Amino acid sequence: VCWLAPEQTAGKQKPYMYTQGQAVLNRSFFPCFDTPSVKCTYSATVQVPEGFTAVMSATSWEKQKDNTFIFKMSQPIPSYLIALAVGDIVSAEVGPRSRVWAEPCLIEAAKKEYDGVIEDFLVVAEKLFGPYVWGRYDILFMPPSFPFGGMENPCLTFVTPCLLSGDRSLVDVIIHEISHSWFGNLVTNATWGEFWLNEGFTMYAQRRISTEVYGLAYTCLEAATGRALLRQHMDNTGEDHPLNKLRVVIEPGFSFFLGVNPDDTYNETPYEKGYCFVSYLAHLVGDQSKFDAFLQAYVNQFKFQSITADDTLSFFLEYFPELKEKGVDSIPGFEFDRWLNTPGWPPYLPDLSPGEQMMRPADELAELWAADSLDMEAIEAMDITAWRTYQLVYFLNKVLEKSPLPEGNVERLSKMYPKISKAQNAELQLRWCQIVLKNNLEAEYSKVKDFLHSQGKQKYTLPLYHAMWGGSEVARALAMETFSATAPQLHVNVQNYVKKILGLKVAE
Ligand code: BES
Ligand code: ZN
Repeated sequence: VCWLAPEQTAGKQKPYMYTQGQAVLNRSFFPCFDTPSVKCTYSATVQVPEGFTAVMSATSWEKQKDNTFIFKMSQPIPSYLIALAVGDIVSAEVGPRSRVWAEPCLIEAAKKEYDGVIEDFLVVAEKLFGPYVWGRYDILFMPPSFPFGGMENPCLTFVTPCLLSGDRSLVDVIIHEISHSWFGNLVTNATWGEFWLNEGFTMYAQRRISTEVYGLAYTCLEAATGRALLRQHMDNTGEDHPLNKLRVVIEPGFSFFLGVNPDDTYNETPYEKGYCFVSYLAHLVGDQSKFDAFLQAYVNQFKFQSITADDTLSFFLEYFPELKEKGVDSIPGFEFDRWLNTPGWPPYLPDLSPGEQMMRPADELAELWAADSLDMEAIEAMDITAWRTYQLVYFLNKVLEKSPLPEGNVERLSKMYPKISKAQNAELQLRWCQIVLKNNLEAEYSKVKDFLHSQGKQKYTLPLYHAMWGGSEVARALAMETFSATAPQLHVNVQNYVKKILGLKVAE
């Protein structure tokens, strides 16, 4: 349960509290069987001080006298999806079954960002995966220290305010959380060791919706940045790290042995390798509409249940008996058992070439900037003003891969593209900060510091501390200075992970 002082909110006037249940934090919120294998309905009565509003992941709510809110979740859900937030929050309608919630100073931006689009995603998702059973789909914009991009609390997704880019460019996070309404919230992984069942299927569903709404080229571009994250992760850990398989062994705690906290196993593998495995299943089927129908039948078969990968894969083979007969689960090199139990790079990668028209210019430009003597004429001939955010992200990933660049190139790049080096978009800021650190561009270290002061998302914070700690003395000092200033505003998990990176003592 996170308690924020007024300074830690966007409005800086009133305190705020919220809960983040996933993976195993809700046991400190209320007594429960805190495992995703158990589902139940819930109701809650929450009294808050005057001037505050309470919201929960519930199918119905009403406000009674004395600032008392009554919530009911009428569908069975696992404990990790029960969520509460209390603060100075207001709402605005953005669709027939959707509103945004935010602090008053953010509500206009929140409405503008998503007005009219949420319903489009829901309609496409229902067409693909079957009825949306949760009634409303609302979005709560959290204070800047919220550790995730989004959290799929049913009826009420919690999201980072970093999504307020002004141009909807980070809407893939919303599509992702909407997809969890089927994969994760209806059909749930029975144990955190099979988290890929939640996230891998959700990544697949997200990209199916994205393909329908934005087309294949754009979706492949977004998927390519996901693949780059998986590449970075496996390079950092080594491909054969035990976490780089889809079924992870999470030692249980017993007696005085504490066991492993599932949050500590969080990484890109369940997302992007999971996505590759689901894409492989679709590839085996060979027909998109048949695979879509399978996904819908899968949700219908296992809705409101918690299942294992064995359940998923047996259902797949029963649904496609001709594939079962062919023995597709044991094709050498692509065995289902290998996908689940052997760490490493995915044996099958979906074809992202439909995105090439958007990636190629970015590849070429990165190549030009990595040259020993810059061909300014060729560089100036490439106009990036109309590039989509994910094209710029893709370009920056390539520049980062090639970094450190020859002396002086990054300074020139920074001057040439203020759109990048002065970006307010969080995904661009993250990549620019990574480039600044990898190239020891001390003149722009203040941007790293400012970015880490402005938000506390785990996936932005940890890579930057890793980069600083692996860098020069100056970079290390920057890490220490920034952490001592921002630690109190970070989520306790994120605080502990940063401490570990910096070699500081972590309290058990
Ligand atoms: N359910 C996750 C967030 C999560 C995972 C919280 C594990 C606690 C433990 C959420 O759906 C998620 O994956 N968010 C991503 C979105 C991205 C993949 C589009 C995020 O926060 O970055
Ligand atoms: Zn997710």
